[in-house]
Amino acid sequence: MTESINFIENYQLEGELLPILTYPNPILKQVASDVTEFNQELEKTVMNMIYTMYKAPGIGLAAPQVGISKRFFVMDIGYDREEITLADGSTDFELTNLKPMVIVNPKFINKDGETTYEEGCLSVPGIYETVVRAETVRVEYQNLSGENCAVDAEGLLSICLQHENDHLDGVVFIERLSQLKQTFLKKKFLKQQKKNKL
Ligand code: CO
Repeated sequence: MTESINFIENYQLEGELLPILTYPNPILKQVASDVTEFNQELEKTVMNMIYTMYKAPGIGLAAPQVGISKRFFVMDIGYDREEITLADGSTDFELTNLKPMVIVNPKFINKDGETTYEEGCLSVPGIYETVVRAETVRVEYQNLSGENCAVDAEGLLSICLQHENDHLDGVVFIERLSQLKQTFLKKKFLKQQKKNKL
């Protein structure tokens, strides 16, 4: 078993932008099924998800968020993003230090301690709230080739792994909050979405 996080080596920022589903899309509520085939289609989807995550921008994106109810997600918690001015005066973002990782069929073997972090989610844009999660985790998973790997994580990596894994179980981060807060935030979010559509 590989005892580390599997980064995609020599990653080039290219791909297709996938539409990101937002709460309360029913696919976000489903429990996703295991990945059983490690083929070119999976690889292509993963590459497009990584591209979509960087462009959003976000630090994690799970397959159900792009309409695929399968157990895998992509993450990068440490890249740099800098606004640059192009020759024609318009602005763009330059992304550097990209180290995308792919987690397939994760299983949480151990969870310890408690930590809090102000989380957000590409499927609940504009909402940020402090969530309580385990401080350290051990996760066994498969990489893009289907090889068995494991990682012991703490800090933001641990939090992100838990947030993304929740998506595979049909849970968005606001559902980790008190019932009162959930009701308030769901109303606030749906009102905001309605306003954006006008
Ligand atoms: Co999310």
